[in-house]
Amino acid sequence: MKIYLDNSATTQVDKEVVKAMMPYFSEKFGNPNSLHEFGRDAREAVENARKKIAEMINCEPEEIIFTSGGTESNNLAIKGLIGEKKHIITSKIEHPSVLETCRELEKQGYKVDYISVDKEGIINIQELKRKISNNTLLVSIMHVNNEIGTIQPLEEIGKICREFGVLFHTDAVQSFGKIKIDVKNINIDLLSASGHKINAPKGVGFLYVKKEIKIKPLVNGGGHEKNLRSGTENVPGIVGFGKACEIADKKMKEKEKIKKLRDKLIQELEKIPGTRLNGSRNLRIFNNVNVSFSGIEGEALVLMLDKEGIATSTGSACSSHSLEPSHVLKAIGLSDLEAHGSLRLSLGWENNEKEINFVIDKIRECVDKLRKISKNIEV
Ligand SMILES: Cc1ncc(COP(=O)(O)O)c(C=O)c1O
Repeated sequence: MKIYLDNSATTQVDKEVVKAMMPYFSEKFGNPNSLHEFGRDAREAVENARKKIAEMINCEPEEIIFTSGGTESNNLAIKGLIGEKKHIITSKIEHPSVLETCRELEKQGYKVDYISVDKEGIINIQELKRKISNNTLLVSIMHVNNEIGTIQPLEEIGKICREFGVLFHTDAVQSFGKIKIDVKNINIDLLSASGHKINAPKGVGFLYVKKEIKIKPLVNGGGHEKNLRSGTENVPGIVGFGKACEIADKKMKEKEKIKKLRDKLIQELEKIPGTRLNGSRNLRIFNNVNVSFSGIEGEALVLMLDKEGIATSTGSACSSHSLEPSHVLKAIGLSDLEAHGSLRLSLGWENNEKEINFVIDKIRECVDKLRKISKNIEV
Protein backbone atom coordinates (compact mmCIF):
# COMPACT_ATOMS: atom_id res chain seq x y z
CA MET A 1 0.00 0.00 0.00
CA LYS A 2 1.30 3.46 -0.88
CA ILE A 3 -0.09 6.40 1.08
CA TYR A 4 0.74 9.95 0.08
CA LEU A 5 0.55 12.48 2.90
CA ASP A 6 2.80 15.20 1.51
CA ASN A 7 0.28 17.31 -0.38
CA SER A 8 1.75 20.57 0.91
CA ALA A 9 4.92 19.72 -1.01
CA THR A 10 3.08 18.82 -4.19
CA THR A 11 -0.05 17.03 -5.36
CA GLN A 12 -0.88 14.38 -7.90
CA VAL A 13 -2.11 15.90 -11.19
CA ASP A 14 -5.82 15.11 -11.44
CA LYS A 15 -6.77 12.73 -14.30
CA GLU A 16 -9.30 15.27 -15.59
CA VAL A 17 -6.55 17.89 -15.59
CA VAL A 18 -4.27 15.65 -17.64
CA LYS A 19 -7.13 15.00 -20.07
CA ALA A 20 -7.81 18.73 -20.47
CA MET A 21 -4.12 19.42 -21.09
CA MET A 22 -3.39 16.70 -23.65
CA PRO A 23 -4.73 18.42 -26.81
CA TYR A 24 -2.52 21.43 -26.11
CA PHE A 25 0.60 19.29 -26.49
CA SER A 26 -0.53 17.77 -29.77
CA GLU A 27 -3.24 18.96 -32.16
CA LYS A 28 -3.74 22.35 -30.45
CA PHE A 29 -0.04 23.08 -29.97
CA GLY A 30 -0.14 26.65 -31.31
CA ASN A 31 1.59 29.69 -29.88
CA PRO A 32 -1.17 31.85 -28.34
CA ASN A 33 0.45 34.91 -29.89
CA SER A 34 0.10 33.62 -33.47
CA LEU A 35 -2.66 34.93 -35.74
CA HIS A 36 -3.66 31.61 -37.33
CA GLU A 37 -6.19 29.09 -36.05
CA PHE A 38 -3.62 27.08 -34.06
CA GLY A 39 -2.66 30.27 -32.27
CA ARG A 40 -6.23 31.42 -31.78
CA ASP A 41 -7.21 28.06 -30.23
CA ALA A 42 -4.33 28.30 -27.76
CA ARG A 43 -5.16 31.95 -26.93
CA GLU A 44 -8.79 31.05 -26.28
CA ALA A 45 -7.74 28.28 -23.88
CA VAL A 46 -5.35 30.59 -21.99
CA GLU A 47 -8.02 33.28 -21.66
CA ASN A 48 -10.63 30.78 -20.47
CA ALA A 49 -8.27 29.64 -17.71
CA ARG A 50 -7.61 33.27 -16.79
CA LYS A 51 -11.37 33.90 -16.53
CA LYS A 52 -11.89 30.86 -14.30
CA ILE A 53 -9.07 31.90 -11.96
CA ALA A 54 -10.34 35.49 -11.80
CA GLU A 55 -13.77 34.17 -10.87
CA MET A 56 -12.25 32.13 -8.02
CA ILE A 57 -10.81 35.20 -6.27
CA ASN A 58 -13.37 37.79 -7.45
CA CYS A 59 -11.13 39.91 -9.67
CA GLU A 60 -10.99 40.86 -13.35
CA PRO A 61 -9.23 38.49 -15.79
CA GLU A 62 -6.86 41.36 -16.79
CA GLU A 63 -5.60 41.37 -13.20
CA ILE A 64 -4.15 37.83 -13.50
CA ILE A 65 -0.53 37.40 -14.69
CA PHE A 66 0.56 33.83 -15.42
CA THR A 67 3.97 32.86 -14.04
CA SER A 68 6.02 29.70 -13.54
CA GLY A 69 4.71 29.18 -10.00
CA GLY A 70 4.57 30.50 -6.46
CA THR A 71 8.24 31.39 -6.21
CA GLU A 72 8.17 33.58 -9.30
CA SER A 73 4.87 35.18 -8.27
CA ASN A 74 6.30 36.12 -4.87
CA ASN A 75 9.44 37.54 -6.48
CA LEU A 76 7.41 39.54 -9.00
CA ALA A 77 5.07 40.90 -6.32
CA ILE A 78 7.86 42.09 -4.05
CA LYS A 79 10.72 43.02 -6.40
CA GLY A 80 8.40 44.25 -9.13
CA LEU A 81 6.63 46.90 -7.06
CA ILE A 82 7.40 50.40 -8.15
CA GLY A 83 7.47 53.20 -5.60
CA GLU A 84 9.58 55.76 -3.82
CA LYS A 85 9.02 54.07 -0.47
CA LYS A 86 11.66 51.63 0.72
CA HIS A 87 10.17 49.80 3.71
CA ILE A 88 8.63 46.33 3.61
CA ILE A 89 6.91 44.44 6.41
CA THR A 90 6.67 40.66 6.33
CA SER A 91 6.61 37.84 8.90
CA LYS A 92 9.19 35.48 10.34
CA ILE A 93 7.35 32.40 9.06
CA GLU A 94 7.07 33.20 5.35
CA HIS A 95 8.18 30.79 2.64
CA PRO A 96 11.82 31.25 1.53
CA SER A 97 10.61 32.72 -1.78
CA VAL A 98 9.38 35.73 0.23
CA LEU A 99 12.10 35.80 2.90
CA GLU A 100 15.02 35.50 0.47
CA THR A 101 13.48 38.10 -1.86
CA CYS A 102 13.22 40.50 1.07
CA ARG A 103 16.83 39.79 2.06
CA GLU A 104 17.90 40.59 -1.50
CA LEU A 105 16.08 43.93 -1.29
CA GLU A 106 17.76 44.66 2.04
CA LYS A 107 21.09 44.43 0.21
CA GLN A 108 19.75 47.09 -2.15
CA GLY A 109 19.02 49.47 0.70
CA TYR A 110 15.43 48.56 1.60
CA LYS A 111 14.46 48.28 5.26
CA VAL A 112 12.57 45.08 6.04
CA ASP A 113 10.78 44.24 9.29
CA TYR A 114 10.04 40.60 10.06
CA ILE A 115 6.98 40.47 12.34
CA SER A 116 6.98 37.87 15.08
CA VAL A 117 4.27 35.24 15.59
CA ASP A 118 2.75 33.74 18.72
CA LYS A 119 3.08 30.08 19.70
CA GLU A 120 0.25 29.14 17.33
CA GLY A 121 1.93 30.93 14.44
CA ILE A 122 -0.42 33.94 14.23
CA ILE A 123 1.30 37.25 13.45
CA ASN A 124 1.47 39.94 16.11
CA ILE A 125 -1.08 42.49 14.86
CA GLN A 126 0.01 45.19 17.33
CA GLU A 127 3.60 44.86 16.14
CA LEU A 128 2.41 45.13 12.52
CA LYS A 129 0.54 48.37 13.30
CA ARG A 130 3.54 49.77 15.16
CA LYS A 131 5.95 49.06 12.31
CA ILE A 132 3.91 50.75 9.56
CA SER A 133 5.42 54.15 8.77
CA ASN A 134 5.18 56.82 6.06
CA ASN A 135 7.95 54.98 4.25
CA THR A 136 6.14 51.59 4.15
CA LEU A 137 5.58 50.34 0.61
CA LEU A 138 4.25 46.86 1.23
CA VAL A 139 2.99 44.40 3.82
CA SER A 140 3.52 40.79 2.68
CA ILE A 141 1.90 38.18 4.92
CA MET A 142 1.14 34.63 3.82
CA HIS A 143 -2.40 33.22 4.06
CA VAL A 144 -1.67 29.66 5.21
CA ASN A 145 1.71 28.50 6.45
CA ASN A 146 3.15 25.57 4.51
CA GLU A 147 4.66 23.81 7.55
CA ILE A 148 2.21 24.25 10.40
CA GLY A 149 -0.96 25.13 8.45
CA THR A 150 -1.79 28.22 10.52
CA ILE A 151 -4.31 30.55 8.85
CA GLN A 152 -3.54 34.26 9.25
CA PRO A 153 -6.35 36.78 9.90
CA LEU A 154 -6.20 38.25 6.39
CA GLU A 155 -9.37 40.38 6.79
CA GLU A 156 -7.86 42.14 9.77
CA ILE A 157 -4.50 42.64 8.05
CA GLY A 158 -6.25 43.92 4.91
CA LYS A 159 -8.22 46.42 6.96
CA ILE A 160 -5.08 47.71 8.67
CA CYS A 161 -3.28 48.07 5.33
CA ARG A 162 -6.19 50.06 3.89
CA GLU A 163 -6.38 52.26 6.99
CA PHE A 164 -2.67 53.07 6.79
CA GLY A 165 -2.62 53.32 2.98
CA VAL A 166 -0.03 50.60 2.36
CA LEU A 167 -0.13 47.82 -0.23
CA PHE A 168 -0.97 44.27 0.86
CA HIS A 169 0.46 41.14 -0.77
CA THR A 170 -0.40 37.63 0.33
CA ASP A 171 1.30 34.36 -0.56
CA ALA A 172 -1.79 32.16 -0.97
CA VAL A 173 0.06 29.15 -2.39
CA GLN A 174 -1.19 26.86 0.40
CA SER A 175 -4.74 28.22 0.52
CA PHE A 176 -5.82 29.01 -3.05
CA GLY A 177 -8.30 26.33 -4.15
CA LYS A 178 -8.83 25.18 -0.56
CA ILE A 179 -10.17 28.26 1.19
CA LYS A 180 -12.49 30.72 -0.54
CA ILE A 181 -10.68 34.03 -1.12
CA ASP A 182 -12.34 37.28 -2.19
CA VAL A 183 -9.60 39.82 -2.91
CA LYS A 184 -12.07 42.71 -2.88
CA ASN A 185 -13.60 41.86 0.50
CA ILE A 186 -10.21 41.25 2.09
CA ASN A 187 -8.57 44.25 0.40
CA ILE A 188 -5.74 42.26 -1.13
CA ASP A 189 -3.63 44.16 -3.69
CA LEU A 190 -1.38 41.32 -4.82
CA LEU A 191 -1.83 37.54 -4.42
CA SER A 192 0.43 34.62 -5.37
CA ALA A 193 -0.72 31.08 -6.16
CA SER A 194 0.71 27.92 -7.67
CA GLY A 195 -0.76 25.11 -9.80
CA HIS A 196 1.02 22.08 -8.38
CA LYS A 197 -0.45 22.49 -4.91
CA ILE A 198 -3.98 22.01 -6.27
CA ASN A 199 -3.65 19.00 -8.57
CA ALA A 200 -2.39 20.95 -11.60
CA PRO A 201 1.12 20.43 -12.97
CA LYS A 202 4.34 21.98 -11.69
CA GLY A 203 5.70 25.07 -13.43
CA VAL A 204 2.57 27.20 -13.58
CA GLY A 205 1.24 29.83 -11.21
CA PHE A 206 -0.20 33.32 -11.20
CA LEU A 207 0.09 36.69 -9.57
CA TYR A 208 -3.00 38.80 -9.08
CA VAL A 209 -2.20 42.49 -9.32
CA LYS A 210 -4.98 44.99 -8.64
CA LYS A 211 -5.56 47.22 -11.68
CA GLU A 212 -4.32 50.48 -10.23
CA ILE A 213 -1.03 49.04 -8.99
CA LYS A 214 2.08 49.52 -11.06
CA ILE A 215 4.69 46.79 -11.17
CA LYS A 216 7.69 46.26 -13.39
CA PRO A 217 8.63 42.94 -15.03
CA LEU A 218 11.50 40.79 -13.79
CA VAL A 219 11.77 39.04 -17.16
CA ASN A 220 12.03 41.19 -20.29
CA GLY A 221 11.30 40.07 -23.81
CA GLY A 222 8.37 39.95 -26.21
CA GLY A 223 5.93 41.71 -23.89
CA HIS A 224 3.68 38.78 -22.97
CA GLU A 225 1.24 39.00 -20.07
CA LYS A 226 0.72 42.75 -20.55
CA ASN A 227 4.49 43.23 -20.65
CA LEU A 228 4.82 42.00 -17.07
CA ARG A 229 6.10 38.49 -17.74
CA SER A 230 7.65 37.89 -21.13
CA GLY A 231 8.02 34.38 -22.54
CA THR A 232 5.64 32.24 -24.58
CA GLU A 233 2.86 31.14 -22.26
CA ASN A 234 2.92 27.58 -20.83
CA VAL A 235 -0.36 26.76 -22.58
CA PRO A 236 -0.86 23.13 -21.41
CA GLY A 237 0.10 24.14 -17.86
CA ILE A 238 -2.27 27.09 -17.85
CA VAL A 239 -5.10 24.96 -19.26
CA GLY A 240 -4.41 22.37 -16.54
CA PHE A 241 -4.42 25.07 -13.87
CA GLY A 242 -7.81 26.33 -15.12
CA LYS A 243 -9.24 22.81 -15.03
CA ALA A 244 -7.80 22.20 -11.54
CA CYS A 245 -9.59 25.37 -10.37
CA GLU A 246 -12.92 24.07 -11.64
CA ILE A 247 -12.33 20.81 -9.77
CA ALA A 248 -11.10 22.56 -6.59
CA ASP A 249 -14.20 24.74 -6.60
CA LYS A 250 -16.36 21.62 -6.38
CA LYS A 251 -14.05 19.73 -4.00
CA MET A 252 -14.08 22.54 -1.46
CA LYS A 253 -17.41 21.04 -0.37
CA GLU A 254 -15.56 17.88 0.73
CA LYS A 255 -13.45 19.79 3.21
CA GLU A 256 -15.32 18.37 6.20
CA LYS A 257 -14.39 14.81 5.22
CA ILE A 258 -10.67 15.66 5.12
CA LYS A 259 -10.95 17.73 8.29
CA LYS A 260 -12.37 14.70 10.14
CA LEU A 261 -9.40 12.59 9.02
CA ARG A 262 -7.01 15.36 10.10
CA ASP A 263 -8.65 15.55 13.52
CA LYS A 264 -8.49 11.79 13.95
CA LEU A 265 -4.77 11.88 13.16
CA ILE A 266 -4.19 14.68 15.68
CA GLN A 267 -6.27 13.00 18.36
CA GLU A 268 -4.59 9.62 18.00
CA LEU A 269 -1.03 10.93 17.63
CA GLU A 270 -1.44 13.08 20.74
CA LYS A 271 -2.04 9.87 22.68
CA ILE A 272 1.59 8.92 22.08
CA PRO A 273 3.50 10.18 25.14
CA GLY A 274 5.89 13.07 24.43
CA THR A 275 3.90 14.41 21.48
CA ARG A 276 3.10 18.07 20.86
CA LEU A 277 0.92 19.62 18.19
CA ASN A 278 2.72 22.40 16.33
CA GLY A 279 0.63 25.34 15.15
CA SER A 280 -2.92 26.31 15.99
CA ARG A 281 -5.62 23.85 16.98
CA ASN A 282 -8.44 25.97 15.56
CA LEU A 283 -6.97 28.36 13.01
CA ARG A 284 -5.50 25.54 10.96
CA ILE A 285 -6.07 24.51 7.36
CA PHE A 286 -8.20 21.39 7.10
CA ASN A 287 -5.48 19.18 5.60
CA ASN A 288 -2.44 19.89 7.81
CA VAL A 289 -1.04 17.98 10.78
CA ASN A 290 2.32 18.93 12.30
CA VAL A 291 3.52 17.22 15.46
CA SER A 292 6.82 16.83 17.32
CA PHE A 293 7.82 13.63 19.10
CA SER A 294 10.35 14.07 21.88
CA GLY A 295 13.59 12.11 21.62
CA ILE A 296 13.17 11.43 17.92
CA GLU A 297 14.89 12.61 14.78
CA GLY A 298 12.18 13.63 12.29
CA GLU A 299 14.26 12.56 9.35
CA ALA A 300 14.67 9.03 10.70
CA LEU A 301 10.91 8.83 11.19
CA VAL A 302 10.20 10.05 7.64
CA LEU A 303 12.56 7.42 6.22
CA MET A 304 11.09 4.65 8.37
CA LEU A 305 7.56 5.59 7.31
CA ASP A 306 8.72 5.71 3.71
CA LYS A 307 9.77 2.06 4.02
CA GLU A 308 6.16 1.33 5.02
CA GLY A 309 4.94 3.14 1.89
CA ILE A 310 3.90 6.33 3.70
CA ALA A 311 5.10 9.69 2.33
CA THR A 312 5.46 12.49 4.92
CA SER A 313 7.89 15.33 5.66
CA THR A 314 9.74 17.00 8.51
CA GLY A 315 11.12 20.37 9.54
CA SER A 316 14.26 18.68 10.74
CA ALA A 317 17.53 20.21 9.58
CA CYS A 318 19.00 17.38 7.58
CA SER A 319 16.10 17.03 5.19
CA SER A 320 16.08 20.69 4.21
CA HIS A 321 18.77 22.51 2.24
CA SER A 322 20.10 24.36 5.27
CA LEU A 323 21.70 23.04 8.44
CA GLU A 324 19.33 25.05 10.61
CA PRO A 325 16.07 23.47 11.80
CA SER A 326 12.85 24.97 10.42
CA HIS A 327 12.63 28.77 10.86
CA VAL A 328 8.86 28.37 11.25
CA LEU A 329 9.07 25.92 14.16
CA LYS A 330 11.70 28.09 15.82
CA ALA A 331 9.53 31.20 15.35
CA ILE A 332 6.65 29.54 17.25
CA GLY A 333 9.01 28.81 20.12
CA LEU A 334 10.27 25.26 19.60
CA SER A 335 13.79 24.41 20.74
CA ASP A 336 16.18 22.98 18.13
CA LEU A 337 15.60 19.55 19.63
CA GLU A 338 11.80 19.82 19.39
CA ALA A 339 12.03 21.12 15.82
CA HIS A 340 14.21 18.13 14.93
CA GLY A 341 11.48 15.76 16.07
CA SER A 342 8.74 17.21 13.86
CA LEU A 343 6.56 15.38 11.37
CA ARG A 344 4.22 17.02 8.83
CA LEU A 345 1.32 15.10 7.33
CA SER A 346 -0.58 16.99 4.64
CA LEU A 347 -3.70 15.28 3.38
CA GLY A 348 -5.16 15.26 -0.11
CA TRP A 349 -8.70 14.83 -1.42
CA GLU A 350 -8.07 11.13 -2.13
CA ASN A 351 -7.10 10.06 1.41
CA ASN A 352 -9.52 7.80 3.30
CA GLU A 353 -10.10 6.48 6.80
CA LYS A 354 -8.52 3.09 6.16
CA GLU A 355 -5.28 4.78 5.14
CA ILE A 356 -5.34 7.09 8.15
CA ASN A 357 -5.86 4.16 10.56
CA PHE A 358 -2.90 2.36 8.98
CA VAL A 359 -0.75 5.52 9.23
CA ILE A 360 -1.61 6.00 12.92
CA ASP A 361 -0.56 2.41 13.71
CA LYS A 362 2.67 2.72 11.75
CA ILE A 363 3.63 6.04 13.34
CA ARG A 364 3.06 4.54 16.80
CA GLU A 365 5.26 1.58 15.92
CA CYS A 366 8.03 3.68 14.35
CA VAL A 367 8.14 6.23 17.18
CA ASP A 368 8.42 3.36 19.65
CA LYS A 369 11.23 1.70 17.67
CA LEU A 370 13.16 4.94 17.25
CA ARG A 371 12.88 5.76 20.94
CA LYS A 372 14.20 2.30 21.83
CA ILE A 373 17.13 2.73 19.44
CA SER A 374 18.05 6.15 20.84
CA LYS A 375 17.81 4.81 24.41
CA ASN A 376 20.22 2.01 23.53
CA ILE A 377 22.64 4.50 22.01
CA GLU A 378 22.51 6.67 25.12
CA VAL A 379 23.31 3.63 27.30
C1 LIG B 1 3.69 29.04 1.05
C2 LIG B 1 4.45 28.75 -0.21
N1 LIG B 1 4.85 29.76 -0.99
C3 LIG B 1 5.51 29.57 -2.13
C4 LIG B 1 5.84 28.30 -2.56
C5 LIG B 1 6.58 28.12 -3.85
O1 LIG B 1 5.74 27.66 -4.87
P1 LIG B 1 6.34 26.98 -6.18
O2 LIG B 1 6.80 25.62 -5.79
O3 LIG B 1 5.19 26.95 -7.13
O4 LIG B 1 7.44 27.85 -6.67
C6 LIG B 1 5.47 27.21 -1.77
C7 LIG B 1 5.85 25.84 -2.17
O5 LIG B 1 6.13 25.00 -1.34
C8 LIG B 1 4.74 27.44 -0.58
O6 LIG B 1 4.35 26.42 0.20
